[in-house]
Amino acid sequence: SKGTYPHYMIKEIDEQPAVIRKIVQNYQNDNGELEIDAAILEEMTASDRIYIVACGTSYNAGWVGKQIIENLTNIPTEVHISSEFGYNMPLLTEKPFFIFLSQSGETADSRQVLVKINALGHPSLTLTNAPGSTLSREAKYTLLLHAGPEIAVASTKAYTAQIAVLAILGELAGRRKGFALDLDIAHELGIAATAIESIIDEKEVFEQLSVTHLSTSRNAFYIGRSIDYYVVMEAALKLKEVSYVQTEGFAAGELKHGTIALIEEGTPVISIITDPTTAGHTRGNAQEVISRGAHSMIISLDGLDQPEDAYVLPKVHHLLTPLVSVVPTQLIAYYTSLHRGNDVDKPRNLAKSVTVE
Ligand code: F6R
Repeated sequence: SKGTYPHYMIKEIDEQPAVIRKIVQNYQNDNGELEIDAAILEEMTASDRIYIVACGTSYNAGWVGKQIIENLTNIPTEVHISSEFGYNMPLLTEKPFFIFLSQSGETADSRQVLVKINALGHPSLTLTNAPGSTLSREAKYTLLLHAGPEIAVASTKAYTAQIAVLAILGELAGRRKGFALDLDIAHELGIAATAIESIIDEKEVFEQLSVTHLSTSRNAFYIGRSIDYYVVMEAALKLKEVSYVQTEGFAAGELKHGTIALIEEGTPVISIITDPTTAGHTRGNAQEVISRGAHSMIISLDGLDQPEDAYVLPKVHHLLTPLVSVVPTQLIAYYTSLHRGNDVDKPRNLAKSVTVE
């Protein structure tokens, strides 16, 4: 039930710190060490390339998963849209390993890929929130998200849960490969959970920003680079699906190659800046849109912040910044939808689980 919350979406955003802590608990053994089925780690680390296949928000989580897995395991990882992959399959390597990301476990576009790769005899792992779901039953292995039921059509806690489980998988697979990782992912996930709490405590900041800058605009942009680019793709999907504001999530450096033509007086452009290597470049891109009349709002990570920034995120491990940077964008989507008078939990034209191709 919604309890005292007006909508499931805001309830599910609020639940994220608890979900992350629960995931860590669920993947800890009696000695307090992270543990997953050794057979998964064995097959995954024997692979020469990982293929992540998913749709929508799960696809966006897949890009963050690629960053985490490549960083911790050194295994090249590709991310694919299910509805494209199945009918235009890329050349596969000798020993592919498939990871399906599906909150519902029932997405037909993803299932048709699983049927095809099962026929080819390749190993697969489904990360899902739904035990016993089709994608869980038909994949060789399953890891559960432990996020609790996600009722709002717009996915929020499943995105952060997928990233948390992928981080655990990445660390354990990296160790299985014999890498001496200077990382305690359970501890870092705890830090991220606390950081999310502090962002949620300040949710009025994002309500105000939504009312002032998004509730009447026709379009909006999110920009970022590197890991922040992956997050802005999700931020844009969330804003468009619940607020109906036409939004693009763009690689900040790519904007000037065409799309900057859309910037008008007052166009909202939100930059996410958590990656130190590209922070300066993204700030330069924010300046470019400001000089064309955009209303720029920068969400930056503590330590990379500047006085003019709209919000400063608490510092977390560099592979886990999406867990904190996505939260303001979920809140912005929620409040923009609310103040536009939309049906927040059931946006038009959408269904929670998409069981047709
Ligand atoms: C967006 C959203 C969808 C789903 C997509 C995949 O908020 O909910 O984009 O992420 O339909 O669904 P699952 O993860 O159930 O396969």
